Amino acid sequence: MTAPAVTVVAMNAAHIDALMPYERTMFGTEAWTAGGYRSELADTKRRHYLVAQGEQGELLGWAGVMVIADSAEILTVGVVPSARRRGIARQLLDGLLAEARWRGAVEAFLEVRVDNQAAQSLYVREGFAQVGVRPGYYDGGRVDAVVMRREL
Ligand SMILES: CC(C)(COP(=O)(O)OP(=O)(O)OC[C@H]1O[C@@H](n2cnc3c(N)ncnc32)[C@H](O)[C@@H]1OP(=O)(O)O)[C@@H](O)C(=O)NCCC(=O)NCCS
Repeated sequence: MTAPAVTVVAMNAAHIDALMPYERTMFGTEAWTAGGYRSELADTKRRHYLVAQGEQGELLGWAGVMVIADSAEILTVGVVPSARRRGIARQLLDGLLAEARWRGAVEAFLEVRVDNQAAQSLYVREGFAQVGVRPGYYDGGRVDAVVMRREL
């Protein structure tokens, strides 16, 4: 069976309502608010957000990047549970990295929870390598962040 088509488009305000229920269940204590997302989208000069949609326009995933000078930072990546392991996160990341390159970035960084093996595997697959650890970065000091980097 052919996998259903996925379309990647720029995030707009209407997508925020669709992603909020997932944001809370997927990111728990690290979840962003709708207002937080609205501020992120308003900062078009430095930030760029994408969403992945299914054939009926339903939300499948989202991701964002910030570019300052020649350095990019991946800010978030999420794929709804029912759409995982179909390459959607890779598609979103590829889109963000292409945009970052276009904006002049020559390297990209990200932080990921040390206990999030799925995301770390994704990032390694996308060419990122560990460059450091930020002790106690998440959950009020309880969980370390792995810092990863790749050239663009
Ligand atoms: C991490 C996450 C974004 C991956 O999304 P996804 O669309 O399923 O990822 P992809 O299908 O693009 O996977 C690409 C590669 O990443 C790796 N990967 C993804 N999920 C994995 C898992 N659960 N276990 C091991 N490796 C995994 C694999 O190498 C995979 O390639 P493969 O399927 O050919 O083996 C998704 O699981 C998610 O939203 N998790 C909750 C939120 C989160 O943790 N976000 C990241 C915060 S830093």
